Amino acid sequence: RLDDDPCRPSYHVTSPANWLNDPNGLIHWNGRYHLFYQYNPAGPFHNTIHWGHAVSDDLVHWEDRPVALTPSPDGPDRDGCWSGCAVDNDGVPTVLYTGGRDKRQLPCIATAADDDLTAWDKDPDNPIIEELPAEPEVLRTEHWEGEFRDHCVWREDGTWYQLIGAGIEGGGGAALLYESADLRNWEYQGPILTGDRDTAGTVWECPELLDFGDRQLLHISNYEDVVYFLGTYEDGDFDVDRRDKLDHGDFYAPQSMWTDDGRILTWGWLPEARDVSGQWDAGWSGAMSLPRELSLADDGGLCQRPAPELTELRGDTTSYDVVRLDADDTEELPVESRSFELRATVRLEDAEAVELSVLESPDGEERTPIRYTYESEITVDRSASSTDPQATGDTQSMRVRPYDAPLSLRVFVDGSVVEVFANERHCLTSRVYPTREDATGISLSADGGRATIASLDIWELDSVW
Ligand code: FRU
Repeated sequence: RLDDDPCRPSYHVTSPANWLNDPNGLIHWNGRYHLFYQYNPAGPFHNTIHWGHAVSDDLVHWEDRPVALTPSPDGPDRDGCWSGCAVDNDGVPTVLYTGGRDKRQLPCIATAADDDLTAWDKDPDNPIIEELPAEPEVLRTEHWEGEFRDHCVWREDGTWYQLIGAGIEGGGGAALLYESADLRNWEYQGPILTGDRDTAGTVWECPELLDFGDRQLLHISNYEDVVYFLGTYEDGDFDVDRRDKLDHGDFYAPQSMWTDDGRILTWGWLPEARDVSGQWDAGWSGAMSLPRELSLADDGGLCQRPAPELTELRGDTTSYDVVRLDADDTEELPVESRSFELRATVRLEDAEAVELSVLESPDGEERTPIRYTYESEITVDRSASSTDPQATGDTQSMRVRPYDAPLSLRVFVDGSVVEVFANERHCLTSRVYPTREDATGISLSADGGRATIASLDIWELDSVW
């Protein structure tokens, strides 16, 4: 593993080196959790994608495994083994993924050749779907004969269902439904939801349907954001009553897994926010988000919190019952770290904003302020995060609810990742690239009035490898 780079996350899953994008094929099998991911072993750029593989016993500590799927020179996945999912087909771990060949995107299937899921047998009849659906007409682009890929598969009353992401000619994105008795012969049923291209993009990638009992959630990735729709799904139709972004920052193409005790954990790809030459120089690109536990609140809204398993990583602690900040005060905290978790309750009193600055050099040349304003907005300002011109310097933001209560804040800083959870509902993940070795400070300040920070804890977090 590449590990001498201070920007490399240590408790977010990464590939040993080179390129990583979407999480794939999440499955709990034979007592272990498996996380596969889009991987290019040849370099830190997206090309001829394989499936990388990591395993865990506890969802916290991970081990690298050899590449699990490799494009076959004569196969329908010659140009890449793209995103897909894993299912347990009566004791046979099975993956469905998109093969790329020439300008076509071709659904493929493979079954595990061993119990460690290190080797897979591709079905000789691949691809399992050859024709694009006739109605609605799938979008063709300069690069693709049909934008038609990624797989979410589940079983209900003995029948298999599958969603494939697509773009519609003249329209927006769509999640297309298929049905099968055997995972190999699929019958097209139509879209369960189509998007308005002005607000939800022209192509939907990586659709995933999650069942919360009486309500369901569909999320899609539309090249920019991960948009989720909450409502009720029944018989091929999704009736939406809420919609938002799963994360307001650098987070894409998530995939989920059910734990044995019935919780939904979701991982997303954290793409880089530095340019291609910066990724090339680093020799690696992409990280996984922390596993997030998704659930529904009493008011029917979506809750997102870091998986409770992550508390295992906590090391040295610094705690305060309360920190009172006067107007325009700055409090430097006595912790120097680039891999920590911070938890706090923030009350603005009469301040306009509270600023938590992380990855801060002593002279403030490099710093990343996370600002919470009385308009209930959280921003991550990257204009001074790095002096490296290869790094992005824009500001990311999100609105948080409820508007009138103290903010419950959890912030995870890890090398070049800043992952913010607000009120256990809203997430904003930012990638930042401090260059200075001493950009490890943490400070708090209040703008234009007083603020109170209660139950402030900072934990050093261990590596997951
Ligand atoms: C999303 C995505 C998927 C595709 C994969 C290719 O990031 O573009 O639609 O299957 O990545 O790596």
